[in-house]
Amino acid sequence: MANIDWSKLTFSYTKTNTILRTVYKDGAWTPVESLTDDNLTFSSYAGALHYAIECFEGLKAFRGKDGRIRLFRPEENAKRLQRSAKFLGIEAPSVEMFVDMCKRAVLENIDYLPPYEEEGASLYLRPTLIGTNPQLGVQSSKESTFLMLCSPVGAYVGGALDAVDVVIARNYDRAAGNGSGSFKVGGNYACSLYSLNKAHDLGFKAVLYLDPVNKKYIDEFNSSNFFAIKGNTYITPKSDSILPSITNMSLETAAAHLGMEVERRPVAVEELSTFDEVGECGTAVVITPVHKLVDKPTLESEEETVYTYGDGQCGPKSLKLYHFIKGIQRGEIEDVFNWNVEVEL
Ligand SMILES: Cc1ncc(COP(=O)(O)O)c(C=O)c1O
Repeated sequence: MANIDWSKLTFSYTKTNTILRTVYKDGAWTPVESLTDDNLTFSSYAGALHYAIECFEGLKAFRGKDGRIRLFRPEENAKRLQRSAKFLGIEAPSVEMFVDMCKRAVLENIDYLPPYEEEGASLYLRPTLIGTNPQLGVQSSKESTFLMLCSPVGAYVGGALDAVDVVIARNYDRAAGNGSGSFKVGGNYACSLYSLNKAHDLGFKAVLYLDPVNKKYIDEFNSSNFFAIKGNTYITPKSDSILPSITNMSLETAAAHLGMEVERRPVAVEELSTFDEVGECGTAVVITPVHKLVDKPTLESEEETVYTYGDGQCGPKSLKLYHFIKGIQRGEIEDVFNWNVEVEL
């Protein structure tokens, strides 16, 4: 095992043994190569560099209580990458090739797979697909390069389950109404950086974006979906401009399984005052509880409405859902929905 203080890991880059690469050209993928150097060489005219022809995924591998290694729902990530690639007009790997590369990346970098005992830590996989043929005009790239990157990570912000303060940015959008919001393309993140940086300067961990058309309903955060708990109901926005989060989908299933009602529907901003618990959800930490949610007419404005949830700890319903998902990922409870894909040693 690598000489790493697993308890100090954050969501940041650590060099591992290998990255995997395959290139789609002349109608076929080249054999997958393992590279020890993570610096790449390709044309400076590559479509990815000029027109953001790039999409990616994020998923995790966990060491289980029983010593077995599990990937959480990798086929869903493979399918989502295919959707994103179709949107960009580039070739994507098959589901089988994607999952095989996930497994191979884990095995080649097993030294960096954190021990079971380190609950917040895992090996994060970052499948990345970029348009790499030289081009000048705006067009989808004919050649694409698919990379399977990985890095050991801990909690994304603070500790897992530390509550955060977030802000609504009414004068900024991350996605357009009929745009790319539901695809995991790099351009969406570039579009959110200006408002995210402003929010950070103001002491907030994330921006909560509203639906870009009516500015009436809640969309999602920079890199996570929104959910709320009201009584015994799990509520999450239905919107065409948000990423279909695999964690959120799993939480909806988990909530129903644990006897809660589940509502996926437009969530009006006015409802914020009626919720018992509010949180972010995503692969990074499954659930990040929101403590204070601040609504401002503009991010630059002094005026604000503050919604407060709980006392800075994760609420009881969110906690129960968190433990259910983590329990399955870590092999502690039965994988009743067959979500895990095992990596055979
Ligand atoms: C914009 C956005 N929304 C939601 C999510 C959560 O998706 P998932 O649960 O598939 O990680 C992510 C990524 O993690 C994201 O970048």
